[in-house]
Amino acid sequence: MSISEKVHWDNRYKLGISNIDTQHKKLFELVNRLFVLEDSANVKEALREILYEFSDYMKTNFSDEEEYMSLIDFPELQEHKKLHQEIVDTIAQIISTPTKLNIIKSKMKVVAKRALIDHIMNEDTKIKIFLLEKEMENVFDISDI
Ligand SMILES: [Fe+2]
Repeated sequence: MSISEKVHWDNRYKLGISNIDTQHKKLFELVNRLFVLEDSANVKEALREILYEFSDYMKTNFSDEEEYMSLIDFPELQEHKKLHQEIVDTIAQIISTPTKLNIIKSKMKVVAKRALIDHIMNEDTKIKIFLLEKEMENVFDISDI
């Protein structure tokens, strides 16, 4: 897989929740380390390290997101949690099935697209929309005038 096939962070992925945005950016960096790995004598060890780091960091990100959603009373928290669990399970399955570097890379390419780009754009963005709607409600709340 060539370097040009790395995933790229885009400002459209920003939620405006600074620690979550920082974590998302870092996840892009971590997964890209895997895409530039080349076959070598110690590639297995390097691959294992990257996969575990990515998986651990993703779990941290998911649990921070879930904590945040619960804090703001996000109505779709349970559904969102299930999506997180599906991603965690997929990565765990990839890690526990040792195979060739190129196969791992193509599997992780799918994970990066689904778990990072699609998940952020289609699911995490709902948190941002919910926050904006809440703000709007407060702006137009005239009940205490
Ligand atoms: Fe999420």
